[in-house]
Amino acid sequence: MILVSGGTGFVGSAVVRELLRRAQPVAVLGRDAAKVRERCGEQVEPRVGDVRDPEALAAAMAGAGVVVNAVQFPNSPIENRRKGWTFEDVDLKGTRNQVDAAKAAGVRRFVYVSGVGAAKDADRHWFRYKWEAEKYLQDSGIEWAIVRPTWVYGPGDVSLNRFLGFGKALPFIPMFGDGQQMMQPVFIEDIGRIVADAALRPEAANTLFEVGGPDVMTMNDVVKTALDVQGKKRPILHQPAAVGKLLGTLAAALPSPPLSADAIDFITGPAVADNTKLVAVLHPTLTPLREGLATYLP
Ligand SMILES: NC(=O)c1ccc[n+]([C@@H]2O[C@H](COP(=O)([O-])OP(=O)(O)OC[C@H]3O[C@@H](n4cnc5c(N)ncnc54)[C@H](OP(=O)(O)O)[C@@H]3O)[C@@H](O)[C@H]2O)c1
Repeated sequence: MILVSGGTGFVGSAVVRELLRRAQPVAVLGRDAAKVRERCGEQVEPRVGDVRDPEALAAAMAGAGVVVNAVQFPNSPIENRRKGWTFEDVDLKGTRNQVDAAKAAGVRRFVYVSGVGAAKDADRHWFRYKWEAEKYLQDSGIEWAIVRPTWVYGPGDVSLNRFLGFGKALPFIPMFGDGQQMMQPVFIEDIGRIVADAALRPEAANTLFEVGGPDVMTMNDVVKTALDVQGKKRPILHQPAAVGKLLGTLAAALPSPPLSADAIDFITGPAVADNTKLVAVLHPTLTPLREGLATYLP
């Protein structure tokens, strides 16, 4: 059985769909069994646990041969320290707890969905925590695979769809920063297949895969391409990132901040992958941006 932690989320649910297509028995770890049933259907066994609670994880991992960790704290990348929704608590400590529980439960392979940019000396703390989580897994003695996606798009994403949502209500698309950062958007269904391969294929063992789509372009061009696929024309109205960071700093005083200064850095950073290992080992088919968008945009 394959346990997908975060299987109710954007990335995790694509992994679950793909594993079910391959007729694999799947369990999903989430914080609410009813939500797991509602999002994943009857074919999936719900397991309840919070990755910040090591005790709950012991029972949740029972009987799993493979664990896929696709957990992200709610409202990411806006951290909420009061609720323990931080990169340190969920990405780093949550992954450590899951690796420990998986080892204790005799899990054969652990797949971590990390992110492009993870590095020991990264200047952003979210990338350093992801790198630390990767390292903990690699040193754990359990068989591992790591998938580092770039910027994932598809029905249900909360990034590109947010821009396109603005286009419904406004005559322009607002964007923090100059939109010149390079992006390599990858289609959610491709990520589902690649993570399923990382979970199942013997040659994926102990390998780190960066994953980006076939098109590399600026963020401005990503949004323009999506508008074009929709048959819409909207100018992009750039706001200085510094204004967003100021608003984010002020919002930090609120109980549930809608923005943070770090989130502005997060969304204005580049996301480009080195697909060399991915292509050499898994030979995936990667969907061109226009083709991926055309499968779900009206
Ligand atoms: N989306 C992207 O573009 C992208 C790009 C690169 C990397 N990634 C990585 O992919 C992974 C998944 O991201 P996503 O975009 O799919 O996130 P998401 O849609 O927000 O899903 C997050 C999942 O985590 C679960 N979760 C949250 N807090 C939890 C906790 N304390 N204990 C147990 N489960 C918890 C949620 O389940 P419940 O609410 O049901 O508990 C949900 O299923 C993350 O590591 C992210 O960094 C994503």
